[in-house]
Amino acid sequence: MAATNAGIERVADYLPLARARLDPAIWRYLADGDSDGNERALAAVRLMPRPLRDVRGGHTRLTLFGQPLDHPILLAPVAYQRLFHADGEAASAMAAAAQGGQMVISSLASQPFETIAGAGRGDDAWRPWFQLYWQGDRQRTLRLLRKAIAAGCSAVMLTVDAPIKLATLQLPGNVAAVNLESAVPPDLPPTGRGVVFDGWMARAPNWDDLAWLRRQTDLPLLVKGLLHPDDAEQAMATGCDGVVVSNHGGRVLDGAPASLDALRRIVERIDGRVPVLFDSGIRTGRDVFVALAHGATAVLLGRPCLWGLAAKGAVGVAHVIRLLRDELEMTMALTGCAHLTDIDPHCLADA
Ligand code: FNR
Repeated sequence: MAATNAGIERVADYLPLARARLDPAIWRYLADGDSDGNERALAAVRLMPRPLRDVRGGHTRLTLFGQPLDHPILLAPVAYQRLFHADGEAASAMAAAAQGGQMVISSLASQPFETIAGAGRGDDAWRPWFQLYWQGDRQRTLRLLRKAIAAGCSAVMLTVDAPIKLATLQLPGNVAAVNLESAVPPDLPPTGRGVVFDGWMARAPNWDDLAWLRRQTDLPLLVKGLLHPDDAEQAMATGCDGVVVSNHGGRVLDGAPASLDALRRIVERIDGRVPVLFDSGIRTGRDVFVALAHGATAVLLGRPCLWGLAAKGAVGVAHVIRLLRDELEMTMALTGCAHLTDIDPHCLADA
């Protein structure tokens, strides 16, 4: 792998490679959104060096929902990965599994769930997670969920922060959300009612639907896209096993808080009762450390994996994960942390 990756020293080095390879419209879709606010919030955090500590025997392993992982860097759910490389989600699955990690398959995956899960499985029992988008009603949603479970998915992540989003890309003819049933156009709202409130939002999930979903599966259920502590609290009260603090990479609500700022408040409220995962803006292993120091149990990576995927397929994604793991280990060593459980707010310079 060293020779193939010559000249690439940081994850950010993959960005120009990806950009050069992708059609400009696909690049715009990938880069869409305000990522700067998320990245700046992470970069602004100062860490306290703690030399002279004995960190021999250190590692980045953890157990999440009973699953042993070599490191806390999961691949975020990302739609239509065949836009970025012909090997699509299967390449990401291969990379995640090869790196001893986990991947969340999007509802909008461009390959069948079985193909993706099978690509990562190899010789062991690797079972990816599944990201669920509400399918307009409970029966359609349940059919999609069952399809993912039948393919071997081992946890469910309901994304709730993007019930309406303007399409920014006309998909090429060879890329589609192949696991979904054909789309049903939303019912026109009665005269005098709004297309947003009584059209699109009538097909979005609400808290009752989340409670219903909780009853449909025994798999770990997480809610992705929460920024308010009250919402995290309610998700827990509804029986969810974890929350994902995320502003969708800054792609949905303009002016939403930086994901890191929301993390502080949600961690405080959840107070260790369930795992709190984090995404949006992670670009370095140091960023991973910062999120963990603020109380995240693990992080999800969005755009950086796609840079790796676009540039070099599975090898690129695996290298992106490896670079972040190496940087995380170095940050841990310099801050005197041998294990993930040693990473806490005391590692922050202003603690
Ligand atoms: C996404 N994201 C996303 N989230 C989700 O729940 N389902 C999806 O299908 C998608 N699709 C998607 C496509 C693209 C091109 C991007 C960039 C992102 C959001 C994703 O899971 C994650 O929350 C963000 O990407 C995290 O931010 P960073 O790491 O990209 O800064």
